[in-house]
Amino acid sequence: MELKKIFENNQKWIDRKLATDAQYFEKLCKGQSPEVLFVGCSDSRVTAEELMGSQPGEVFVHRNVSNMIISIDLNMNAVVDYAVNFLKVKHIVICGHYFCGGVKAAMQAQDLGILNPWLRNIRDVYRIHKIELNNIPDENDRYNRLVELNVQEQCINLIKIASVQKAYKQRNLQVHGWVFDMQTGKLIDLKIDLPKELKDIMEIYDLG
Ligand code: CO
Repeated sequence: MELKKIFENNQKWIDRKLATDAQYFEKLCKGQSPEVLFVGCSDSRVTAEELMGSQPGEVFVHRNVSNMIISIDLNMNAVVDYAVNFLKVKHIVICGHYFCGGVKAAMQAQDLGILNPWLRNIRDVYRIHKIELNNIPDENDRYNRLVELNVQEQCINLIKIASVQKAYKQRNLQVHGWVFDMQTGKLIDLKIDLPKELKDIMEIYDLG
């Protein structure tokens, strides 16, 4: 995409917005009150707002390689803290996607430099679910399943964060695991039973 084209598109977008509401940008400046924090992959095909049909102000978005929640990631922690404690979002969505390059890379025996410590977290997901994954004979099916299990583990990682635990207990903050299927365009709710997944591990991760 040419950069020149981006600025042309931007002007067309401004014109369209102002044509329907002359005060559109004034209203936008007044603030945001999104009810959803969306954590997705940086992949250029996972266009969060477009695929959800959300308008500016409706969804707080964080994207990184393979939609990870890594405990020492200051960027992610700042986003989650702001979303939970200040914006008081009602839902946090971890959204993975099939054909995720990060997940694929984590399945290869290859040295990828600075990506190694990041993707190591996906290898850990593989280790936790090794028995299930190694029982899937087809490599593509195994790859898709790892995408789903990674979403599940990142949901669990979210619940390990103190502010998320607090909001979960005090105001029933909901955590959801979704997958974007780019073969069909569909968003799939994995319907992860978090209370069930957490039952055995909360004694370890409970921060009081
Ligand atoms: Co991806």
